[in-house]
Amino acid sequence: MSTGSPRVLPVEGGIAEAASVLRAGGLVAFPTETVYGLGADALDARAVARIFEAKQRPSFDPLITHLADAADLAGLVGRVPAAVEALAERFWPGPLTLIVDRPAAIPPIVTSGLETMAVRVPDEPSARALIAAAGVPVAAPSANRFGQLSPTRAEHVVAGLGAAVDVVLDGGPTRCGIESTIVDARGGRPVVLRLGALPLEALVEAVGPVTVRPGSSGQPVAPGTLAAHYAPRTPLRVVGAAESAVGDGGRRGLLAFRERPAGGDWAAVEVLSPAGDLTVAAARLFDALHRLDAAGVTEIVAERVPDIGVGRAINDRLGRAAATWHQGG
Ligand code: TXA
Ligand code: MG
Repeated sequence: MSTGSPRVLPVEGGIAEAASVLRAGGLVAFPTETVYGLGADALDARAVARIFEAKQRPSFDPLITHLADAADLAGLVGRVPAAVEALAERFWPGPLTLIVDRPAAIPPIVTSGLETMAVRVPDEPSARALIAAAGVPVAAPSANRFGQLSPTRAEHVVAGLGAAVDVVLDGGPTRCGIESTIVDARGGRPVVLRLGALPLEALVEAVGPVTVRPGSSGQPVAPGTLAAHYAPRTPLRVVGAAESAVGDGGRRGLLAFRERPAGGDWAAVEVLSPAGDLTVAAARLFDALHRLDAAGVTEIVAERVPDIGVGRAINDRLGRAAATWHQGG
């Protein structure tokens, strides 16, 4: 299904054409500040069905609806709870996805039949320009095959989805590199359903205590937040920093946080951030994993990073990538 190539257009100059493809029921992959999304007109159930086909995504895994402007939320869903409104006001545009009641205009396929809908306004000007030009809300999951590594470059989308997508807008590497944080604040106190690019610390500073339910015990909270996800084809193992230096496998690859360890015989090494900057590490995470996956190594050994800020989301993704292999799937 991924044979053939999609049309790749630069974001500069390509937006009008991509928007008309969306309006005609086509699929457009586009950069957001987090990862590339695979977009379709969220009001068009047939177009949205093509997303599930292209991604080979199970129908129980709902999509995020993207808006051009925070002011468009009220127009789509009507009144939203005060705590949701406050978060939207504070963090949109940005890497925060909020849960609201599904409006009647949004067909149930977008939400996998749920009566709730995930929605966000991306902090990437070209993404907002695309959605505004299309004139419709845009349903978009990450633009990768289900369960595989997320795409942070147009090349990742082309390699993973091929001609299953009509147009890829190329805006270069994405800034955050890791998906949005998903929060359900309908009940007042925010419940974090997926750790992501907006750090918990920023949420807490803005609105006080939050509850984290990442479903790490294997009970997914966000329906698609399965234990096994975000996985390279190569088996991946997560280790503490000290442990990784002992590694000696000849054909193994290392995903290091700050530096290449002195010992060890690695076939390939990727260093996320020599300065130890977690934001930089997040931006490089999936790109580094894509490269290690293509390097022909027998195993990827990945160092955990400090469990603070966006580091929590990095460790979450590494844990899920490893879980695929622990579960034999
Ligand atoms: O950064 C992002 O969020 C990227 C860009 C493209 O916006 N999108 C993204 O989409 O990561 P996706 O489909 O890969 O992940 C969406 C997650 C899934 O885990 C899904 O289960 C959850 O959002 N989700 C969607 N609707 C939901 C709902 N109504 N309630 C709870 N979780 C929901
Ligand atoms: Mg995804």
